[in-house]
Amino acid sequence: MTEVRERTGVGAAEPRLEAREKVTGQALYAADRPVPGAAYAWPVPAAFARGRVNTVDTGPALAVDGVLSVLWHGNAPRLERSGDPHLRVLQTPEVTYRGQIVALVVATTPESAREGAEAVVIDARTAPADTVLRADHAGLYEPELVNGGYPGRLDKGDFDTGFGAAEVRVDATYHTPAEHHVAMEPHATTAFWEHGRLVVYDATQSSTAVRDSLATLFELPPQLVRVHNEHVGGGFGSKGAAKPNVVLAAMAARVVGRPVKLAMPRAAVFATEGYRTPTIQRVRLGADRRGRLVALGHESCSQSSRLVEYTEQAAVVSRVLYGVPNLATGHRVVRLDVPPPTWMRAPGDCPGAFALESAMDELAAAGNWDPVRLRIDNDAVTDAEGRPFSSRHLVECLLRGAERFGWAGRDPRPGTRREGRWLLGSGVAATTFPAITMPSTATARAISDDDFEVAVNAADIGTGARTVLRQIAADALGVDPGCVDISVGDSAIGPAPVAGGSMGTSSWGWAVTKACRQLRERIDGAHQGHVPPEGVATDADTTADLAARPDYARHAFGAQFCAVRVDPATGEVRVDRLLGVFAAGRIINPLTARSQLLGAMTMGVSMALMEQSVMDRRSGDFVTSDLSAYHVAVNADVPRIDVEVLEEEDPHLNPMGSKGVGELGIVGTAAAVANAVHHATGIRMRSLPITPAALL
Ligand code: MOS
Repeated sequence: MTEVRERTGVGAAEPRLEAREKVTGQALYAADRPVPGAAYAWPVPAAFARGRVNTVDTGPALAVDGVLSVLWHGNAPRLERSGDPHLRVLQTPEVTYRGQIVALVVATTPESAREGAEAVVIDARTAPADTVLRADHAGLYEPELVNGGYPGRLDKGDFDTGFGAAEVRVDATYHTPAEHHVAMEPHATTAFWEHGRLVVYDATQSSTAVRDSLATLFELPPQLVRVHNEHVGGGFGSKGAAKPNVVLAAMAARVVGRPVKLAMPRAAVFATEGYRTPTIQRVRLGADRRGRLVALGHESCSQSSRLVEYTEQAAVVSRVLYGVPNLATGHRVVRLDVPPPTWMRAPGDCPGAFALESAMDELAAAGNWDPVRLRIDNDAVTDAEGRPFSSRHLVECLLRGAERFGWAGRDPRPGTRREGRWLLGSGVAATTFPAITMPSTATARAISDDDFEVAVNAADIGTGARTVLRQIAADALGVDPGCVDISVGDSAIGPAPVAGGSMGTSSWGWAVTKACRQLRERIDGAHQGHVPPEGVATDADTTADLAARPDYARHAFGAQFCAVRVDPATGEVRVDRLLGVFAAGRIINPLTARSQLLGAMTMGVSMALMEQSVMDRRSGDFVTSDLSAYHVAVNADVPRIDVEVLEEEDPHLNPMGSKGVGELGIVGTAAAVANAVHHATGIRMRSLPITPAALL
């Protein structure tokens, strides 16, 4: 018998290091942090979308037993003017969206703070609000750059001529609703001041970004601000930057002179901590008789707030997925009296792929082509700007998926398969997400020959980041992961990018690899000179390494196949099976990678069938502001999801050869479901979510 030595470094299916701490309740989240003498804060939201707060009558709140202070714009500490307008809380009488925080009550208990918040009397002048995104809104404009730093408009060839001459055409408009992240842990902060230093425990995807924002707003040198985020209960983009909660808590702690805890109530999370903007997207596809795309047009409209411009880059996916000589992609945004939208899992690509990948299915139907074949025949060689891909295995994902799903021999006719009362259908969609890497720092220290400390300011938002970083460190040091203590979640470690944009592992892992390899070289050198390794330490910064990389289009790809059942009498849609086949470079940890992809596909099913944030147009209020009204998929909604990851070598990424997997799995899922619903019923659903009411 051969002895199998289990791999424990890169490539091993290691369970999460903090799993036991989490299931035993020992993992401390931002608001759990025990601090002596803590006070508690409760926010008071504006009950109107547009207007001015004349004055706040704090008397009734201050009369509540235990209330220490009521902050509002008339008495709150001043914040630096150049700070992010969304973070400059309680600075002006202006209200630009419903739910904007206009006062904060601080008390000795959370109950007193809440009672105080209900007693505050706001005297305000309100004005009619403009809260509805429409494709013909007079305020729409084309920003030069959209989220992610992409040009708002990118055209190639001559779209109008190409589309006009195409033999098969699709021209369709798709709608996606506002959606919320609903991370399990609400936005929360524990803050205190210590000899002029500000210390916060914050629910954030980036303690570096929060530190920098607080330093700006409170006019402190960054080294006097420390941000801890050892455990974070989900983010999905909503915790990607500093949010009002952390500024309010820090402000309140300064005013009352003691630590302050602020855990945002769920309704306040819906109002003020960010959401995915609704989109209206027109997609035009033109193909020749053989099913080759000759023209692709993708125009997206989305909304932003009065406070900040944020433009969802929904048309960018159409610059990557297919090769086409005539391309027109553009974005328009309108600033409304609504809360600031933000990144939500796969911003841009996720809503964009719903539109593009639905349109590809419509094109396949119009030209009588197989939807898998159509995608393979239009695979791109470069991105729309002519950059070669560092690696691209979309065709392999489609072929492998089709084989495993049993796609061959599929009858394309819609509405013809029955099983009892159910209509059956299947659908496919492609997926892609950029493989981003940003500069990071990391440090490594040798304690002894088999004991190392590695620190990198990663945020582990439930993904298993610290686990994979320890695997990466162990490989670079040439030791077993058990020899490595890994520290994350502390701004004092050193600058590192956000746990967002699927860039975490790639960015932090590069710095960890560099620090550990340097340490290994120094130890080996020292050993030759008979110097023990104790105390040898190395710092790494990957800024220069990243700047030296050649210009490639770096993206992960995948294909999703979906089987649905639809009850034509009730409009109920059930996803029987979802298969995702992905190529995302080298997989550091198959267990945590699978969990990321599976979780994102689940969120994609949720987007397809349930999720929508409904805004009351007059009040500008998201009325679906708790989990009984904002529906997300649960286990019963996703009976079978299969994930397969193909082996992919890519020497142009980072020393690990990895691409991010956090967002890839949600891109295209909703289109795969909608395409399957069309196959089952013959009904083309161009608006999400596909609820029973919408389908009938
Ligand atoms: Mo993700 S939306 O970049 O946290």
